[in-house]
Amino acid sequence: MNIFVLEDEAAIGRAVGDLFCRFVQKKPAAVLGLATGASPVPAYRRMAERCRNGEVSFRRVRTFNLDEYCDLPEDHKNSYHTFMRQELFSWVDLPPENTGFLNGNAEDEFAESERYRLAIEKAGGIDIQLLGIGRNGHIGFNEPAENFTAESYKTALTGSTIAANSIYFDDIPMPRYAMTMGVGAILRARQIVLIATGGAKADAVKIMLEGEMSPRCPATALRQHPDVQVYLDPQAAALLRK
Ligand code: GLP
Repeated sequence: MNIFVLEDEAAIGRAVGDLFCRFVQKKPAAVLGLATGASPVPAYRRMAERCRNGEVSFRRVRTFNLDEYCDLPEDHKNSYHTFMRQELFSWVDLPPENTGFLNGNAEDEFAESERYRLAIEKAGGIDIQLLGIGRNGHIGFNEPAENFTAESYKTALTGSTIAANSIYFDDIPMPRYAMTMGVGAILRARQIVLIATGGAKADAVKIMLEGEMSPRCPATALRQHPDVQVYLDPQAAALLRK
């Protein structure tokens, strides 16, 4: 794993946004794995800015998002479909039909998982996956568990995640379930970039990098992957030994 501690989230946004732009400049039909949450927003802004300046085009890019809430209409203001439109897709020249999501309202979660697996496989697999990390070490919505998960599945969200994300839900209660890509599916990406900022992530970051590898902290699985870059601000890196 390559670990970079940069001065603040703006610097991380520039570095990661530029990294993704360089990737797409080299491979215009790249397959990007994308994440929601506050952590990737500055990187999305950077990508949008460079697209607007004509430095990079996402016209041939395909994207697959990590997760989506269950029992929430796709066009609800707090859905991850809406989040991606607001934070990235409306600002770049990516055709809407090139964006892939799990359907949190699918009747058959197993069929939906298989559909997503095949869609990613047919696109050639994810070239580069962007990740955040939850305060409890979750990636996507892979919450602490007894086993690492493989393919996409429907998961019950934990109290820690509900506490962290319910601040965004002001009209209805936050959904209690989500569909997420499994840890195994995330690890199939050829390259992974994880962003963690702020002191609330310091414990999760320490366990991810220095703790016991265990599904109790799903992010520890990333240590098995040969090409991971972790971008931290000083607060998120504060508990690391070195
Ligand atoms: C959310 C998402 C994750 C995200 C994480 C951290 O619940 N499902 O993909 O990485 O929690 O979010 P944030 O970046 O807002 O701290």
